[in-house]
Amino acid sequence: MAGSVEESGTPLIARLLRGQKALVTGANSGIGKATAIALGRAGADVVVNYVVGADEAEKVVEQIRGFGVNAYAHEADVSDEDQVVDMVARIVREFGTIDIMVANAGLQRDSALVDMTLAQWQKVIDVNLTGQFLCAREAAKEFMRRGVVPEVSRSAGKIVCMSSVHQIVPWAGHVNYASSKGGVGMMMQTLAQELAPHHIRVNAVGPGAIRTPINTAAWDTPDAEAELLKLIPYRRVGDPEDIANAVVAITSDLLDYVVGTTLYVDGGMTLFPGFATGG
Ligand code: BGC
Repeated sequence: MAGSVEESGTPLIARLLRGQKALVTGANSGIGKATAIALGRAGADVVVNYVVGADEAEKVVEQIRGFGVNAYAHEADVSDEDQVVDMVARIVREFGTIDIMVANAGLQRDSALVDMTLAQWQKVIDVNLTGQFLCAREAAKEFMRRGVVPEVSRSAGKIVCMSSVHQIVPWAGHVNYASSKGGVGMMMQTLAQELAPHHIRVNAVGPGAIRTPINTAAWDTPDAEAELLKLIPYRRVGDPEDIANAVVAITSDLLDYVVGTTLYVDGGMTLFPGFATGG
């Protein structure tokens, strides 16, 4: 069985996803980049999706190939139906199939409600929520067509929805983003319920504050970081690798019985830290 801890020789980490084919959206920076690299290190062949920033995507591909696995970069806008259909058709053509879909691509367009344009609202919903729907749908079709291949994995496929603590934590000034992540949570649970009988596992990973380009202003000065740390009981801003490792774990057979769960990786941000000394 893939991921068996009894097997010796190659270190466990390099065997966890051996022979699996993964696609990570938004994989040329931040959490997506770290996740694509971690999946490659764990033995998977990886497609590095990006929408802008081809050079950075190629660097990620090179790094992944350094682990002795296959990788290529693929430009596609996850909110465009035809582009997502083509992207998944290509991985099936080039790698034979897909075992892991990490629907990671996401963005923020922050604004107070009264100033938020419909375009700001729509862009965030289109990429963060509709994009994940399209990626999940196309991956699920291939998982169902192929079914379980026991030498590769106990499940017919894994979908990971990149969510956020804002799946459950309201966020003033970010109603588009928080609504998209709340939607991701319910979409994930519904898809998990619908697809589990097909031996497909759908889960979400919910990052807290992670050092990435999306939130630089929240941690790049000592004052900003001190403010941010008040929201993190573990008193550490997360690194992209913290999330990448969670994705490797949740897609591996070690966590084969985990279905329809959101794994918060947040240093305790979802623990209502204000109540540690109040209430
Ligand atoms: C957001 C970041 C924010 C973090 C914690 C993430 O989902 O993208 O901007 O720092 O949540 O609030």
